[in-house]
Amino acid sequence: MLRRLLLKQASASRHLLSTKTPQSTSHPLLHKHLLFSSSSQSQTPQSTSVEHVDDADNNQASSTISIDRSCLYNPPAHSHEPTTDSELVKHLKDVIKFRGGPISVAEYMEEVLTNPKFGFYITRDVFGAGGDFITSPEVSQMFGEMVGIWAMCLWEQMGQPEKVNLVELGPGRGTLMADLLRGASKFKSFTESLHINMVECSPVLQKLQHQNLHCTDEVNTGGSVKNKTISTLAGTPVSWHASLEEVPSGLPTIIIAHEFYDALPVHQFQRASRGWCEKMVDVAEDSSLRFVLSPQPTPATLYLMKRCKWAAKEEVEKLNHIEICPKAMDLTHIIAKRISSDGGGALIIDYGLNGIVSDSLQAIRKHKFVNILDAPGSSDLSAYVDFPSIRHSAQEVSEDISVHGPITQSQFLGSLGINFRVEALLQNCTYEQAESLRTGYWRLVGEGEAPFWEGPDEETPIGMGTRYSAMAIVNKKQGIPVPFQ
Ligand SMILES: C[S@@+](CC[C@H](N)C(=O)[O-])C[C@H]1O[C@@H](n2cnc3c(N)ncnc32)[C@H](O)[C@@H]1O
Repeated sequence: MLRRLLLKQASASRHLLSTKTPQSTSHPLLHKHLLFSSSSQSQTPQSTSVEHVDDADNNQASSTISIDRSCLYNPPAHSHEPTTDSELVKHLKDVIKFRGGPISVAEYMEEVLTNPKFGFYITRDVFGAGGDFITSPEVSQMFGEMVGIWAMCLWEQMGQPEKVNLVELGPGRGTLMADLLRGASKFKSFTESLHINMVECSPVLQKLQHQNLHCTDEVNTGGSVKNKTISTLAGTPVSWHASLEEVPSGLPTIIIAHEFYDALPVHQFQRASRGWCEKMVDVAEDSSLRFVLSPQPTPATLYLMKRCKWAAKEEVEKLNHIEICPKAMDLTHIIAKRISSDGGGALIIDYGLNGIVSDSLQAIRKHKFVNILDAPGSSDLSAYVDFPSIRHSAQEVSEDISVHGPITQSQFLGSLGINFRVEALLQNCTYEQAESLRTGYWRLVGEGEAPFWEGPDEETPIGMGTRYSAMAIVNKKQGIPVPFQ
């Protein structure tokens, strides 16, 4: 999600444009605002604060860590007073109760986001101005189009195979894939090679993706043969899966993961006098959820040790808090193995750091930061992506793959030609469409507040071009992917 810096942009609107479709009014003056420098490589400053929960900026005052020395494995009896707890909170408390102790932040995050009944992503459409956050594909059609160009270039480098699995991990509303297919629809040999595989855990979002890809279901009455779903945007077959492992192997594969890694559950560790302790979620005596520290090493400590080995000693020494994401490491293993055996590559775009992540987990509801433990299931939880950890995880499974980046999103989109694309779209558009293109472009590749903005302050477009990074994992046979050369 275009988190912190997109909070002002809840009203962002998106107009779908085609260079082929003439529009009624053009507004050439708006061109002048588009060609700003967009290649800064600055990294988001990393918080090393131990007491992050008291950070006013995070608005998490009530989640102070208290070290529970007495009753980590002997939780207080729960009140039998009637409560107004949501079903998810009841479930979390049950898990803690039956486990006989607190759960990790990662387990909490996983339940909150993807619990099959009550999870944040499972129950509704959380995107856009009316939802909780907005993502790059929702900001502008150009994002999906540029990712499409990247996929086509890789397909060329793969020798234009006749059949390819195009996989998207966590496709949200399906907007990126829809824009990719629309943009690529003229390149028939590419689109005809594709089988689209959407990896999505939410039935609500699967339905939305089906709609947005303009799918038709060809019902097969023959019995044994499965029904076929076709996206009419480019005549490509589409399938849905709950995980990457379910996507059939054996075909060259292109994998796209936009804002997927940041939704994977992170474990948090805090340095204490007795060493690194894992931060856990427990039930307090007043029946609220609270953080406690583990009294002894937890299984995730093994991953912490592994992550620290990949870092310089000095990098670890200066940190009092570390986040690690074993699920990201495991997913990267699966991606790297698949690409090594089937050929192809993966593109990962997310916000994150080119180093260890200290303390980044945040909760967002209705475009505002809220307490991580507040009304779980009603806000999004996400964490910065640790790009070096992805690189090391990929490299440890196979010598047949190479890892490229991270580079900034503005470098990535700029090298793929977003400037030319926006100029082309601006040739034929209405005033409103031009404004939407201009602000969308800035949000994708600019840095900080848009200097050209003349509207209300609270709607100032914020550029995320250096906050987001792109990384590619490819089979070495494919050479170096564009634009990572
Ligand atoms: C932050 S959203 C990003 C959506 C989309 N890529 C975009 O940029 O608009 C995360 C997406 O991943 C899906 N998701 C999260 N965890 C998942 C999991 N463990 N397995 C499958 N899908 C998951 C969510 O339902 C959602 O579609």
